[in-house]
Parts: sequence; structure tokens; C-alpha cells
Amino acid sequence: MASAARNGAAAAALMVAVSVLALAAAGSAQLQYGFYKGKCNGTDVEALVQSIVRARFARENPIVAYLLRMQFHECAVNGCDGGLLIDGPGTEKTAPPNLSVKGYDVIAAVKAELERKCPGVVSCSDIQILATRDAVALAGGAAYAVRTGRRDRRRSLAPDVRLPAPEFTAAQMVAYFGGLGLSAFDAVLLLGAHTVGATRCSAIKGSRLYRYGGRAGATDPGMDPGYAFVYKNYVCPNVPSSDNNAVFLDDQWSALKLDNHYYRNLQQRRGVLACDQNLYSDGSTRWIVDLLAKDSGLFTSLFPKALVKLSEVNVVTGTQGEIRKVCNRFN
Ligand code: HEM
Repeated sequence: MASAARNGAAAAALMVAVSVLALAAAGSAQLQYGFYKGKCNGTDVEALVQSIVRARFARENPIVAYLLRMQFHECAVNGCDGGLLIDGPGTEKTAPPNLSVKGYDVIAAVKAELERKCPGVVSCSDIQILATRDAVALAGGAAYAVRTGRRDRRRSLAPDVRLPAPEFTAAQMVAYFGGLGLSAFDAVLLLGAHTVGATRCSAIKGSRLYRYGGRAGATDPGMDPGYAFVYKNYVCPNVPSSDNNAVFLDDQWSALKLDNHYYRNLQQRRGVLACDQNLYSDGSTRWIVDLLAKDSGLFTSLFPKALVKLSEVNVVTGTQGEIRKVCNRFN
């Protein structure tokens, strides 16, 4: 028994090591650390981004959730190319999963300031990645380095937006992230972003609380009954007027802190979205949840590596694309 447990622990450690190596090896050759050093008329680009994000975080700390979600919806659709930022009919921004993405104004504020200092130098896609990085550190996550040198793609089309559904199974999620070049371990780490932020009752009333499996009145048996009781009676009562009530993706006290609490909730069947809970109910990803739930330092150190990997998906570099003058319009 003891030796089985030891073998299990050794296998888990090996999987972590393999995953860390894979994370370290990933990325695009053209991106560089400190790409903007010496390119902005004496302004330290990364320090400027950080100061604007810090001021914004001090006023509105949910900005960390907005930026994390934005990075995912940006990078998963044609890569981290600023496509999500474009305004206008039929752009990525208008696709249903993006209608509730927030935080565009902080990207615009950083861009405006950088255009004053050094016009046409810093891309909107790099601003997104730098701003998310800074918000993560402010919310209790680790500070991490990111490579820059992305350019902005001249493409933003709603039909390109194929994001995962909240009811995805673990296998569907792993396949989806696999399509982005990310591993199952990365997928579970990245879903850990749901340790911050919120959704609305409308996202769980049908699928989890009142119509599980399409059956009227059925509640998801995979949800902790005590939690289901609280949601049904206090947070999301079965009346249309509760649709817009906020539901924290992690619990209220930890909902703006980047910690491993999300994984501990999953162990107690307290995941909010079906996809969250599915990471634990499926044996293929449960061991990763268990590992991250047990070791908060592990989540803190590995989460940025998965974010960095996401931030380098299908980037535009060199002379491709453009450096936009404003982030919500092509030049
Ligand atoms: C299978 C993958 C995923 C699914 C199905 C999913 C789904 C969702 C849904 C349905 C919401 C609620 C949106 C709303 O009610 O407005 C949400 C919120 C959020 N998601 Fe995800 N998500 C996934 C992966 C990710 C990843 C990879 C990240 C970032 C790395 C992320 C970050 C967030 C954050 C931070 C929020 C809260 C946003 C806020 O408070 O405004 N999600 N997600």
C-alpha cells in the first residue's frame, strides 16, 4: 500500500517535471525578453504598463479577472493577435462568448499613453499580455517575465470565435487545449484562472440547478447538495429576475485572489460551472486537481508558465501584421 502510494507520488512528480520542461520549451522564436528596451524615447514600456494596471487594480481589483479572461479569449482565437479588440459589426468582439468580456478600456488607456510617448511602437497584443501579467502579480500570483514583439493581425471575424462551452467534459477541454498546443496539465492550470472572477446565475440555472440533463426540476448530482441549496434558495432562485445575479467562480472570500482554492473547491464538489467540476469528476484530470489543491506553491509557480505558453500561441511577429494606432481599429 505504502509503496503504491510512493509510486503514485513519484509518477505525479515525473508528470509535473515533464510538463514543466514542455512549458519551458514552448514558445515562438521571434519573441524576445525586453523587446521594447530602448525603443520608446526613453520610456520604460513595461514599467508604464505596470503603473497604469496598478492604478486601475487599486480602484477595481476585478480587473485581474477581466484581463485573464481576455487573454484566453484573445489567444485561443487565431492566436494572441489583438483581434478581439477590434470594434465593428461582425468582429470577434461581437461573438456571443465575447459579449461579456471586459477590460478593453484599460488596454485602450495604456495604448493612448504609449502612443503619446512613442507612436507606432508597441502592439496592442503585447499590451494585453503585459497587462495581464501585471494584474496577476497584483492579485497574489507570482511575478513572471513575458517575451514581447507581437504584432497586431488585420483580421477579426466573429465566425472565427470557437471557444469551449461551459458544459464541456474533461476530455473535450483537453482536446480543445491540445488544439492550441497545450497539454492536459496546462488546461487544468489555466482553468485555475477561475479562482478569480464571477459569472451570472443564467450560466448555471439551466445546466446545473433546475434543468440538469434537460429534466425539469433536476439539480446536478455532481454539485455539493449544501452548495446547491444555497444557490437555489439565496443566490439564484428559480425566477427570471435572478438571471443577472453574480456568482463567484471561487468562493466569495477568495474570489479575487489568485490561489489554489479553486482546486480545493472542486474536491468538495463546489465547482460553479459544469466544466470546472468535470476536471475533478473525470479520473484523467482529477490527479492534477488533487496535486494543485494540495500544494499552493505549485499552482503559484506553474500557473504563470501555462499563461506564458498561452500568450505565445500563433503570434504575429517581424514584418507581418501592424502596430495599431488605436487598439479598437485597424490602421
Ligand atoms: C474550458 C475552458 C473554459 C470555459 C468553458 C470557460 C467558461 C467561462 C464562463 C462561462 C465564464 C462566465 C462568463 C460570464 O458569465 O460572463 C467564465 C469566466 C471567466 N473565465 Fe473562463 N472558461 C474557460 C477557460 C478559461 C481560461 C483558460 C481562462 C484564463 C486563463 C479563463 C478565465 C476566466 C475568468 C477570469 C473569468 C471571470 C471573468 C469575470 O469575472 O469577468 N477561463 N469562463
